[in-house]
Amino acid sequence: MQSNLAQIFRIRKFLDDLKYPDSQRIAGEISMYINRNKRAKEEKIFKKLHKNEPWEYIQGYCEFCTSDFKVTKDTLIPRIETEQLVYDCIKIIKKNKIKNIIDVGTGSGCIAISIAKLLSSKPSIYATDISKRALKIAIENEQNILKKKSITWIHTDLIKDVVLTNKPTLAIANLPYIPTSMYEKLDKSVLEHEPKIALDGGKSGLESYERLFKQIKAKRLKVDYLYLETEETIFNQHKQLAKKYFPDKKITGRKDIFNRNRFILIS
Ligand SMILES: C[S@@+](CC[C@H](N)C(=O)[O-])C[C@H]1O[C@@H](n2cnc3c(N)ncnc32)[C@H](O)[C@@H]1O
Repeated sequence: MQSNLAQIFRIRKFLDDLKYPDSQRIAGEISMYINRNKRAKEEKIFKKLHKNEPWEYIQGYCEFCTSDFKVTKDTLIPRIETEQLVYDCIKIIKKNKIKNIIDVGTGSGCIAISIAKLLSSKPSIYATDISKRALKIAIENEQNILKKKSITWIHTDLIKDVVLTNKPTLAIANLPYIPTSMYEKLDKSVLEHEPKIALDGGKSGLESYERLFKQIKAKRLKVDYLYLETEETIFNQHKQLAKKYFPDKKITGRKDIFNRNRFILIS
């Protein structure tokens, strides 16, 4: 016990020197990982952290909505704020008897898989990504977490190849939304290790979302609810863009757990 505590303090000091966020929690996780994995070496982990590699990629998974999701350099590390999107969407699905769910830009599959796990009803769930490598990890996560095939995975640009029945539909999207000028100033751990395609939203930050809105219109897809994650600095522009494409719908903003304007519901 004493040696464990000494180890945690040592790791925490190392993380604090690196200015690694949430050092207390991460130090505990690293210590547990080393004690569980005989081949894991503290010095090797320190080396990787020193090269700005995020802890989640080193341990190979990230906890999201109480499940462990495999993550690699091909998938974004799911963020804790996105859990709220999942819980909000569960409420929308139950209240409105949603039968079709599309998760656009699924990455590790964290949103689609968590929704499938938390629902007792069985709507049709589709999840898309432009990255074949990300989809491969998402399918592994489906097998590990759900233990059965529950989701239709589609390799496509946004919703291009998605075909839906005319039943009540919720589309969820956590697409790249960071304006390029802001993306370029992000922490090295993000810039050097997480996929750019998951984060860089182009000059305005809204390029992927505008293309998604255009696809919905062009395909005449009957989307009853659209739940989007966004960046707080472009929140108002994002709402205006939604209003432009869906003038007859209600556009509502939602805050994240840190009280920032981060979600938009189009209903
Ligand atoms: C912000 S990440 C979100 C990942 C995951 N949904 C999450 O919440 O952690 C955006 C995802 O969108 C995917 N993506 C980017 N452009 C896309 C496009 N044109 N069509 C489909 N997926 C796209 C990226 O590969 C990435 O997996």
